[in-house]
Amino acid sequence: MKKVLIKKIGDHIGEEVLIRGWVRNVRSSGKLQFIILRDGTAEIQAVAFKPELSEEVFAKAKSLTMESSVRIQGIPKEHPRRKGVYELAVTDIDIVQIADEYPIAKKEHGTDFLLSNRHLWIRSSKQWALMKVRHTVYYAVCEYLNDNGFFRFDSPILTPNPCEGTTTLFEVPYFDEGTAYLSQSGQLYLENGIMSLGRVYDFGPVFRAEKSKSRKHLTEFWMMDAEAAFVEHEENMQIQQELIRFVIRKVMASNGAELQILARDVETLKKADAPFAVKTHKQAVDYLKEKGVDIGYDDDFGAEEESLLTQESEVPLFIEKWPTDIKAFYMKRCPEDDNYVLGSDLLAPQGYGELIGGSQREDDYETLKQRMIDEKMSLDDYGWYLDLRKYGSVPHSGFGIGLERLIGWISGVRHIRETIPFPRMIYRIYP
Ligand code: 4AD
Ligand code: MG
Repeated sequence: MKKVLIKKIGDHIGEEVLIRGWVRNVRSSGKLQFIILRDGTAEIQAVAFKPELSEEVFAKAKSLTMESSVRIQGIPKEHPRRKGVYELAVTDIDIVQIADEYPIAKKEHGTDFLLSNRHLWIRSSKQWALMKVRHTVYYAVCEYLNDNGFFRFDSPILTPNPCEGTTTLFEVPYFDEGTAYLSQSGQLYLENGIMSLGRVYDFGPVFRAEKSKSRKHLTEFWMMDAEAAFVEHEENMQIQQELIRFVIRKVMASNGAELQILARDVETLKKADAPFAVKTHKQAVDYLKEKGVDIGYDDDFGAEEESLLTQESEVPLFIEKWPTDIKAFYMKRCPEDDNYVLGSDLLAPQGYGELIGGSQREDDYETLKQRMIDEKMSLDDYGWYLDLRKYGSVPHSGFGIGLERLIGWISGVRHIRETIPFPRMIYRIYP
């Protein structure tokens, strides 16, 4: 018997085939038993028609419960009215396992219940669609970077120094060496990588002991850091824009069915594939003041400010040239005014928040050293990082994308905990 994936069923109309998968749902109506089957690639309705089956096979069809595993033999037919939709006329059933009563039924469940049952929740169609989009986004980011001369350069997860400040660090006892930290971003290592390879990226889990219960924060999330030698601030933003637009196009081309399940407004997404908007931090503050927000010129933006700044925008918005005091030590000062740095945050439209943090890096040894002294950082611990500015320093820039934030915006889900298979948050580590 030919084993067929549901996604490919249209190529086998009229042939008898075998599908292997799980029962999403069952419904009976007299002589008919409807079985919604899924196999990871798609879903199909299988129909067991009593007069055409032996009593034994029809009894098997009747005995199926939600999430039972099966091998079902049948003949694919085109749906009489809906083009591109297929049905399977069942000819035989091999039950692999009859599932116990499934905890996640049709009725509405609370989020807490669903998160506690994440191992089962991932099978539901919305979660399935999100994981498929995640797959596309991941490979699209890699494809763009590969096509644009970036080499993969994996950074370590166990590190001796923090990258993004000391307030969100996870500490790990590390033998006789004292304390190690779980990486917050591979950036500092990538800056080393470019001195060997020119352009590099990493892509993996990073950790932030973020005491935030917001819908945009996880304690473990995936980051893609990219870094490029001889790239300055403007070009850095250009690369980010091209990359994000490439990802949008890839998802629209590959995940039409998934975006439909997610009820994502594809027209809105399509409109984001256009030149991004840019505001300096000062212009953004001016804009917020006009909207009546009580904010100063040295303040960072919270979720509310980010929403206000982007709610009317169809395209993502870069906020560039941030006040030096509120950004990381490694950012290069603006040549025209050293109260500002050549950093940029990319905000998604419609209030989805920050997708990317990036900057040109300080490449002058003395300037960087002074900044580190001002921030009371240990020059010994960061000796390896300062060394880069001693041996062939070059202007360079990079950025880090939060994978879950990007998926969240592209899929239109409000909470990023649904965009990663097993989310880690301050109040949850099970399952
Ligand atoms: O803006 P961040 O902190 O930048 C860096 O870590 C730089 N070292 C990156 C670089 O230049 N290579 O983090 C980058 C992105 C944010 O824009 C956001 O999308 C995501 O990582 N992010 C989080 N995502 C989920 N949960 C959290 N707690 C996050 N914190 C940051
Ligand atoms: Mg940031």
